[in-house]
Amino acid sequence: MSNITLTTLLAHKRSGEKITMLTCYDATFAATAADAGIEVLLVGDSLGMVLQGHDSTLPVSVEDMAYHTAAVKRGNKGALVLSDLPFMATATLEQTYANCATLMRAGAHMVKLEGGAWLTEAVTGLAERGIPSCVHLGLTPQSVNVFGGYKVQGRGDEQAEKLKAEALALEQAGAAMLLLECVPSPLAREISQAATIPVIGIGAGPDTDGQVLVLHDMLGLSLSGRTPKFVRNFMQDANSINQAIENYAQAVKQGNFPASEHEFSA
Ligand code: KIV
Ligand code: NA
Repeated sequence: MSNITLTTLLAHKRSGEKITMLTCYDATFAATAADAGIEVLLVGDSLGMVLQGHDSTLPVSVEDMAYHTAAVKRGNKGALVLSDLPFMATATLEQTYANCATLMRAGAHMVKLEGGAWLTEAVTGLAERGIPSCVHLGLTPQSVNVFGGYKVQGRGDEQAEKLKAEALALEQAGAAMLLLECVPSPLAREISQAATIPVIGIGAGPDTDGQVLVLHDMLGLSLSGRTPKFVRNFMQDANSINQAIENYAQAVKQGNFPASEHEFSA
């Protein structure tokens, strides 16, 4: 696979080719996923749950994220590496810049920030300083204590309009990509059509510009014993991990994943 860049992803957005993204936390899985056709390796702060065993992502530090980003960078074979800013790493503009610099130096090509329209200043400043950013909207797990649980966001006309306005404000501010988690499919479709930057979905239906899943979820591994509604276990029809990841990448490219049973209604 030749190197995937932001230009590749923008070309996919324009041509309608789906973007494949998967979380990845170490060198061997980075090599495996890149070989299997994953275009974006997300070093997600979900590692706090699936690797570290915490019951939320809040305990994850910037140092943890840098450690795993560096490991992914070493194993990567041409995918774009996207790294999460963990809980409170974006508390102030100054901290945001410093923490993004740490992740970029560790090997990230782009950073992901959880939030909303309040991030516009950070997003503009990052772009000016050479750091492309992806803003994670909808169910932002770092705010689980504000939401009172892991709940679908953007339901009802008022909330949907608000989320769409935030998405477009962030694009306007210079975000390179958006990620929508657990929002109704019609809202995700509307935002994807309105935005000129790639919109990636998880639990956001089939009409975003690309899809992401947590590696452990799609391999059928679960610490809690609960699997979110939007997950498919790709190990079920595969005889190796490599095959499962390849099947996921192909299902996304062909529009066979997600299916109706993985969607949330408005
Ligand atoms: O940390 C993560 O794995 C994520 C995905 C759920 C999008 O942010
Ligand atoms: Na995350």
